[in-house]
Amino acid sequence: MMWEYLQPVTIRFGEGAAGELKQAAKDLGCSRGLLVSDPFFMKSGLAEKIVEASEGVLTGIYSQVSPNPEVAEVDACAKQIRESEIDFLVALGGGSALDCAKAAGSICFTEDSIRKYHGTGEPMPEKHLPLIAIPTTAGTGSEVTCVAVLSDKELGKKGPIVSNGFYPSIALIDPELTYTLPPYMTASTGIDVLCHALEGFWSKGHQPICDAFALHACRLVFQYLRIACKEPENKEARRKMAEASVIAGLAFTLPKTTSSHACSFPLTNLLHIPHGEACGLTLDYFARINADAQEGRVHGFAKELGFRDMYDMADAIHQLKADIGLRTDLKEFHLTDEQVAELVRISRHPNLYNNPVDITDEMLDEMYQSMRQ
Ligand SMILES: NC(=O)c1ccc[n+]([C@@H]2O[C@H](COP(=O)([O-])OP(=O)(O)OC[C@H]3O[C@@H](n4cnc5c(N)ncnc54)[C@H](O)[C@@H]3O)[C@@H](O)[C@H]2O)c1
Ligand SMILES: [Zn+2]
Repeated sequence: MMWEYLQPVTIRFGEGAAGELKQAAKDLGCSRGLLVSDPFFMKSGLAEKIVEASEGVLTGIYSQVSPNPEVAEVDACAKQIRESEIDFLVALGGGSALDCAKAAGSICFTEDSIRKYHGTGEPMPEKHLPLIAIPTTAGTGSEVTCVAVLSDKELGKKGPIVSNGFYPSIALIDPELTYTLPPYMTASTGIDVLCHALEGFWSKGHQPICDAFALHACRLVFQYLRIACKEPENKEARRKMAEASVIAGLAFTLPKTTSSHACSFPLTNLLHIPHGEACGLTLDYFARINADAQEGRVHGFAKELGFRDMYDMADAIHQLKADIGLRTDLKEFHLTDEQVAELVRISRHPNLYNNPVDITDEMLDEMYQSMRQ
């Protein structure tokens, strides 16, 4: 099997890295930027601090990004870009702010709505504004991926758009920015890291370089996520989770995610479970389904991490979720038969076909049934 590895994002990592923004813009030859962020950072004062530290390089702010960003927000951000004379973007926030900036920075050169490209198979134009990504969650890895995940409430859909134009130019990863993440968001975004690494590893598109990243990221999550949730200002735990997040991003951006991400879209859309928790909810279930796949390769991954086999690792994932206060079932939703059928139907997302084992509707139904009681 042939494989190719490509990673075009410059990564600058460490406490205080966000302070490198002005230099990063200079390195890109850019001088007028728009900050894309969400209302939390306007309130917390971080957005203002970043603008001040840019010493005039940031000339405007789009701050209306919401969790699971809407296509309408991307269109509004692109409109603001078209109306201002800027030559680069800075995204400050979790995956939502980063994804909104990626998409807006590409469609701003057209008159299109992002709807034209969302779930339609229409290829994105590759021309885009340079983007400096400053993640505040340890989380999505969006700062190094070519993916932007968007939602369209009107059409009731959530899903990724993939484009080589979505790679940020520079990622400034500053673990200090994650200190303000409350324990629940630390847990939810942290379990997303585990999903990226494990799904990237067992995906049909796996390759050796990404395998090594996946292993490293998983090891860090098991070692540090519990600590980061209990002690939000534990420097070592925050630093290691930030490291795990970016490395898991590298582990999945080429191989792509699989079944747990496919199922997360309806779980977020219909039940409003945040992205990371929604992915984590089904991870141990799929770990059992995939355990014997790829001729021992999946069990081998678990063994490298010190587990007996992938079944043992699935137990550990379940325990980790319970320990950090994440849901391990869907009992509280009192799901109707119709809702279960809807979850099954919408889980049939393209990512599901990247899973090493073929997933049938019966398997999905059995999984959701087992979670509802
Ligand atoms: N592009 C990719 O490669 C990729 C990968 C996985 C997920 N995603 C997408 O990213 C989105 C989820 O991103 P996320 O999990 O990073 O969360 P998010 O960006 O949606 O943020 C969630 C909430 O946490 C708050 N928050 C963020 N950082 C904070 C901090 N440091 N302190 C306090 N509050 C903070 C935000 O204000 C927001 O209210 C989803 O839409 C998901 O589908 C994208
Ligand atoms: Zn994810």
